[in-house]
Amino acid sequence: MLLPLSLLAALPAASVWAAPMCSLVPSKSAGALAASATATGGASTGSTPTTSGNSSSIGDDIVAYTWYAGWHGTEFPPDKLSWSKYTAVTYAFATTTNDVNTVSLEDSDEQLLPTFVDLAHQNNVKAILTIGGWTGSQYFSSAVATEANRTAFVKTVLNLVSKYDLDGLDFDWEYPNKQGMGCNLISDDDSQNFLSFLQALRADPAGQNLTLSAATGITPYNGPDGTPLSDVSAFAAVLDYVAIMNYDVWGSWSTSVGPNAPLNDTCTSAADQQGSAVSAVAAWTAAGFPANQLVLGVASYGHSFKVDNSAALVSGSTLTAYPAFDAAQQPLGDSWDAVAQPGPDQCGVQSAGGPSGIFDFWGLIEGGFLTANGTVADGIDYRFDACSQTPYVYNPTSGVMVSYDDAESFAAKGRFINEAGLRGFAMWEAAGDSNDILLDAISNAIGIEEVDC
Ligand SMILES: *[C@@H]1O[C@H](CO)[C@@H](O)[C@H](O)[C@H]1NC(C)=O
Ligand SMILES: *[C@@H]1O[C@H](CO)[C@@H](O)[C@H](O)[C@H]1NC(C)=O
Ligand SMILES: *[C@@H]1O[C@H](CO)[C@@H](O)[C@H](O)[C@H]1NC(C)=O
Ligand SMILES: *[C@@H]1O[C@H](CO)[C@@H](O)[C@H](O)[C@H]1NC(C)=O
Ligand SMILES: *[C@@H]1O[C@H](CO)[C@@H](O)[C@H](O)[C@H]1NC(C)=O
Repeated sequence: MLLPLSLLAALPAASVWAAPMCSLVPSKSAGALAASATATGGASTGSTPTTSGNSSSIGDDIVAYTWYAGWHGTEFPPDKLSWSKYTAVTYAFATTTNDVNTVSLEDSDEQLLPTFVDLAHQNNVKAILTIGGWTGSQYFSSAVATEANRTAFVKTVLNLVSKYDLDGLDFDWEYPNKQGMGCNLISDDDSQNFLSFLQALRADPAGQNLTLSAATGITPYNGPDGTPLSDVSAFAAVLDYVAIMNYDVWGSWSTSVGPNAPLNDTCTSAADQQGSAVSAVAAWTAAGFPANQLVLGVASYGHSFKVDNSAALVSGSTLTAYPAFDAAQQPLGDSWDAVAQPGPDQCGVQSAGGPSGIFDFWGLIEGGFLTANGTVADGIDYRFDACSQTPYVYNPTSGVMVSYDDAESFAAKGRFINEAGLRGFAMWEAAGDSNDILLDAISNAIGIEEVDC
């Protein structure tokens, strides 16, 4: 197929998205990816040759990953995914239940999963299923608590693999020995039991060659005393990679506005050091997890806050860094914002309900903050925060401020992935982007190219 020269000229030089293609590799120019990777130990089993200690093998195994939210299947059916730009896509979520023999796909359109897997396979992309999530982690602790339950839970998840023809599983336990939603079962032994479960899963012939990953917080798994373990290297021997969910670092629960997904925080004041990609990677690697098995979780959305003009703007025009906001007036996010009804939540606690205030990247375009190409719209104030390397927009008329990610911040994260020798990126969620503005920015910054079969 021929493309007009004008269009060809507009394509970034680093990437070549020509068809037919069947795998993604870092371009030769992305030598930093291999050069700076410090491979030690690593998955001894698994379909992906990962950590032989040979940096030259790492680059072939880049992870370009995204979560596909099954409950958005009507608005964003699987055929709208840019399959050729991913190495693996994971379906979210199967949730834990009080029966170790069962996980539930009730809230995530179970009917759509086979279509999703078929499309992934037609596109040579790994089809993964994520178990857990914020509201789906209630019963992980009991599912892995005893050897008998671990054996049963291994069988439960392997049944899913064969039923749906999956290539792997992603465990999004939020969080071992750390309360998440509010009513999760937790135990001092969660992390050890989780490790024993993963070892049992790998030891099963049917688990041996699966892609196994975990979505994690920005600090390593908690030990029995409720603080992060100082050594999580044993997880690297059973997991192909860990995706660090470096987002929701600031939000409506925070004491001021702040970056949703900071790349760095070591450059800001001590009080504002709530976490970042830089500090999360430092924490995981200090605990013995190899950088080249870490994948950076990135966000295709932002959080909104109601901020007075006087707090938002210095000298009437420059946006401030961490302004106070009015928590009683949570703005409505984009048209996908699920406004919670007042009443008991999943934990049975009475809640006032209300909007989440989340704006997907496309929602910022829909909401008039950004133009269709993702740049700031007329009449909107914009600031690119130097330390977190993330943007903020502010509508001075409505008083709505949003901290989010754009092409520039995704590109900065892509460069960091290379510099730090990480395995790749994982975006929550696939449907949040607009015309692949974010996806292309991070892929191009990493230097990912598609290659022929
Ligand atoms: C590492 O790569 C070099 C050069 O390609 C090769 O000779 C060597 O056998 C590799 N080592 C391992 C452990 O794969
Ligand atoms: C094992 O799993 C069952 C659910 O199937 C649960 O009732 C039981 O409490 C679990 N065992 C432990 C020790 O948590
Ligand atoms: C796993 O992969 C290895 C190496 O390719 C192969 O020998 C083995 O048969 C595979 N196991 C299963 C259960 O497919
Ligand atoms: C993070 O901030 C520190 C302190 O200013 C700086 O030395 C480092 O280069 C920054 N890292 C990145 C990736 O921005
Ligand atoms: C983005 O869109 C705006 C307004 O439509 C336009 O002025 C600007 O030139 C565009 N920028 C790019 C990089 O295409």
